[in-house]
Amino acid sequence: MCGIVGYFGSKQASPILVEGLSKLEYRGYDSAGIAIINEGHLKVTKCKGRLANLEAQLLEEPLMGNVGIGHTRWATHGKPSDENSHPHTNEKETISVVHNGIIENYIHLREWLMSKGYKFTSETDSEVIPHLIDFYYNGDIVDAVMKAITKMEGSYAIAVITSDEPDKLVAVRKDSPLIVGLGKDEFYVASDIPAVLNHTREVYLLEDKEFVVISSDGIKLLDAEGETINKEIFHVTWDAEAAEKGGYEHFMLKEIHEQPKAIRDTMTSRIVLGEPITLDDINITKEQIKNLNKIYIVACGTAYHAGVVGKYVIEKLARIPVELDIASEFKYRDPIMDKNTLMIVISQSGETADTMSALRLAKSKGARVIAVTNVVGSAASREADDVLYTWAGPEIAVASTKAYVTQLIAMYIIALFFAQSKETLSNEEIEEIKIAMMELPEKAEEVLKNKETVQKFTAKTYMHKDMFFIGRGLDYAVAMEGSLKLKEISYIHSDAYAAGELKHGPIALMEEGTIVIALATQEAVFDKTVSNIKEITTRGAKVFAFAPVGHTEIEKSVFSVTYIPKVMDILAPVISVIPLQLLSYYMAIQKGCDVDKPRNLAKSVTVE
Ligand code: F6R
Repeated sequence: MCGIVGYFGSKQASPILVEGLSKLEYRGYDSAGIAIINEGHLKVTKCKGRLANLEAQLLEEPLMGNVGIGHTRWATHGKPSDENSHPHTNEKETISVVHNGIIENYIHLREWLMSKGYKFTSETDSEVIPHLIDFYYNGDIVDAVMKAITKMEGSYAIAVITSDEPDKLVAVRKDSPLIVGLGKDEFYVASDIPAVLNHTREVYLLEDKEFVVISSDGIKLLDAEGETINKEIFHVTWDAEAAEKGGYEHFMLKEIHEQPKAIRDTMTSRIVLGEPITLDDINITKEQIKNLNKIYIVACGTAYHAGVVGKYVIEKLARIPVELDIASEFKYRDPIMDKNTLMIVISQSGETADTMSALRLAKSKGARVIAVTNVVGSAASREADDVLYTWAGPEIAVASTKAYVTQLIAMYIIALFFAQSKETLSNEEIEEIKIAMMELPEKAEEVLKNKETVQKFTAKTYMHKDMFFIGRGLDYAVAMEGSLKLKEISYIHSDAYAAGELKHGPIALMEEGTIVIALATQEAVFDKTVSNIKEITTRGAKVFAFAPVGHTEIEKSVFSVTYIPKVMDILAPVISVIPLQLLSYYMAIQKGCDVDKPRNLAKSVTVE
C-alpha cells in the first residue's frame, strides 16, 4: 500500500516523479504529493485524490529542481486529506519524507516527540519520521536516518531529502518493498520496478535495513551498521510496454487477454512432454515430499481461491492431506505444524502482510514454505524456502485476473511434481494431464474470441443489485472467484454457493427474476448440477449457465447457456473463470465504474 519514488540527477525531477507515481497508482490513490529541493529550499506540493489533482496543481505552480521524492497514498492512519498526504516534513520544513508501511509504535513516538516540543499537523503514523530524523539531525542526514530507524517499529520503505544537504537522497526499507534504478549519472528509488522502467532496466532490489545514499559522488549501499555493501544488479527483462495498457481501454481487459500467454509462460520449461517435471527454485527432496504429513495452503482473496483449486488437485493427484486457510485467520487457530509440514503461500505481489505473517509463523514452527508469487525479489520469494514464480508479468489492474490463472497453473505443476515424487500417478497419467495442460492457452484464446456473448448478457443484467454464482466441486471454487470479481469492480452484491448447498438455506432467496450464474463444467457432477439448476428455475430464478461444448441438454433447464471449450475436469477452472472475469468487466463498464481502480481497494495490501 502506498507507492514511493525518488529522483536524483540533472533533469527536472517533477515530471519524472509524477510519471513514476502514475505507474504506482495501483498501490493506492487516496492522495499524491512530491517534494523537491530547489536552490537550497524544500518545496512540497501534495493533495487529496488522484494523481491528476496533483498534476493540475503542478501545472499551475511548477516545482523546479533536480532532486525530489514522491508518494501515492492508500490511507491507513488518518483519512484521505491534504494534511495526511505525503511527503511529510519537519516543522522547519527542511526535511521531507515519503513512507510506505506502518509505524506500529507511532503513538508512543508521537507522544515522546511532542514532549520534546514537536508539533504535528497530520493524523498519520508517517509524520513521526521527519520529526524523529529532525531530532537526530546534526549535519549528517544519513546518520540521522540511521538513528531514527532504530526507534521505528513496524514496516517502512522511506525516501528522505533535506535542504540542509541538497545533493543527497537517502532511502531505506524494512518489510516494505524498495528498489533503486540505475541510470546514466542519475538514480531513482521506487516501491516497484514499473516506476523506473521508462528510464532504466538496471536495478538494485534492497533487502531489509539496507540503505541507499545517492549524492553527487554517486551511489552507495549501506547496511544497518553503515558499512558499505555490494549488491548484484538485477536486469529487468520485461518489456516497458508490458506495464502499459497496450491498446486496451483498461489494464484489466488487457490482462484478461494476456492470459493465454501467461498460462504458456508459467508452464514453459516446467511442463515438457516426455520429461519429468523439474522446478528450478524448489529444492525440496523426494524424501521430504514422501515424509510430508500435511500441506497448508494460505493466501488472501483471489489467491485464496486459487488455493481452493490447489487443495483439490494436490489431494486428488498427490494424495497428501491439504488444509486451506485465509491468511488473516491462520494465526488465530494455533495450527499444528512441524518439520514435516509444508506451507504453500500464494501471493501475486508477494508482499501481502497477512500472507507474510502466516509465512513467518510457519517458519517459526519449523515448517517448510513454498511461495507461489508473481514478483521476483518480493518478500515472499525471499523469505520462503522455495519459490515457484508465476510468469504472469506485471499485473496493474487491482482486480486480479492473469495472476489467478497462473496461480492455478502453479497448483497443477506442484500437484504433478508431488505425484511424480510419490508415484501416486503413473507416468502415462502424468503425461495425459500435461498434454491437456498444453492445450489450455489455445482453449483460453477460443473463450476470448467469443467475448461478445458475455458482453450482450451484461447489457441486460447490469442494473440488478444482487446475483448468485453456483457450481459443484471445482465449479464452486470458480464460482467464488467469479463472485469476488463481480463485487469488487461492479459493486453488485453477489454470493457464491456450492450448488448442492442451496437447498440448505440460500434457496429461500430465489424468487421471480433472481439472476443466477451456474457453472456446469464438471462431467462427474454435471447431472447433479442440472438438478440443482431445475430446483431454482422452478422458483423463478433466471439461470445463465456456462457448460462445455456438446452439453446441449442443459438448454431445457436454463434461461441461456454459453458454451466453453471442453477440457479435463481438473483443468476446467482455467477456462471457466475467463467468461466470469469478462462478465465482471462488462458489468462494471455498463455501470460506469472505475474498472482498474475500484473504490476502497489497493493492489498490494501491505497492512494486516
Ligand atoms: C482480487 C484481488 C485480491 C488479491 C489479494 C491477495 O481481485 O486482487 O483479492 O488477490 O489481496 O493479493 P496477493 O496475491 O498479492 O497476495
